[in-house]
Amino acid sequence: MTSHEDVFGQQAHATCFAPGRVNLIGEYTDLIGGNVLPMPLSKGITVTAGPASSGIHVFSTAEESKIEINLSEGRKGHWADYLAGPLVMAQKAGAKIPPMNLMVDSDLPAGAGVSSSAALEVATLKALFQFTSAKVTDADVALLAQKAENEFCGVKCGIMDQMAVSVGERGQALALNCETLAWDQIKLPSAWSVAVIHCGEARQLTDGAYNERRSALDSAAAELGPEPLRNQPVSASDRLSDPLVARRVRHVLSEQTRTLAATDALRSGDMDRFGALMNESHESLRSDFEVSTGGLDRLVGAARNAGARGARLTGAGFGGCIVALISAAERDDWWHAVSSACPAAWAVEL
Ligand code: GLA
Repeated sequence: MTSHEDVFGQQAHATCFAPGRVNLIGEYTDLIGGNVLPMPLSKGITVTAGPASSGIHVFSTAEESKIEINLSEGRKGHWADYLAGPLVMAQKAGAKIPPMNLMVDSDLPAGAGVSSSAALEVATLKALFQFTSAKVTDADVALLAQKAENEFCGVKCGIMDQMAVSVGERGQALALNCETLAWDQIKLPSAWSVAVIHCGEARQLTDGAYNERRSALDSAAAELGPEPLRNQPVSASDRLSDPLVARRVRHVLSEQTRTLAATDALRSGDMDRFGALMNESHESLRSDFEVSTGGLDRLVGAARNAGARGARLTGAGFGGCIVALISAAERDDWWHAVSSACPAAWAVEL
């Protein structure tokens, strides 16, 4: 395994890890300041930092190449934007960015919908702050990372992914209110297991479709205001003039109700109810929010046929992964049946 010392001939002064995440339920609700329930994965991204005489040098073990990034040059359209963006935002917020050597080491699949970009942003910021001995809370790191994604990378994402990978704890679901950023962690009952399975279709370039969903919600908020969307009943969607916008809003408002119900179900260990809500979530994402694909639908179907109590697409959709709730005892047999039915599928985490 390549180390910071192999690449830069120096010991790393800071080493920070940020995991990927899977969202159990609460899809696109972060865009209205609603509730979400993501869970960190065991896989993730480590960023190490050490001093340089000048400039910022980055080595990625995946790319096996060293590049220099210039913070005054703006977005380049490649992976290093997810390092440069956070550093630029930190600088704008008043942080000192010294010359540095940074190494990125990831075992997280990129573009799979498990938040590899948020993990890279958060690990970069945590490495910077550890290296410069700056005291910044994990929630503030998440907010800076989101700002980088919104303003530097041009994706108008919500706060879920950055919070999940910055404050989340492994094996625990993060019950997060995206308006107040209040959260608590809920342990998954030990008899249950969460599987994250890739459908075999790469996530398509989704930035345009994502931003379009966001603007539909913003226009609905303006039409239904001044009360924020998250406080409106699901029936408010019937009052919207554009039927497409109405369906988008019906998804987020019904998803918000489901997420609160699922969080209660998880707290009380009612996993059959939890699974049923996951299934409803997928249906709403498929028919009202229209972010599913044939490959995701088939995999969700195969996961349920093989005995999952609930299965749904996870993350932004348009390809990538599903999340399934299965009994821990049935895990291996379940995966055998799912992978036979969908040979292109592969397990990110079982
Ligand atoms: C992406 C975004 C998140 C969230 C999800 C959908 O992962 O980064 O903010 O909106 O999509 O729930």
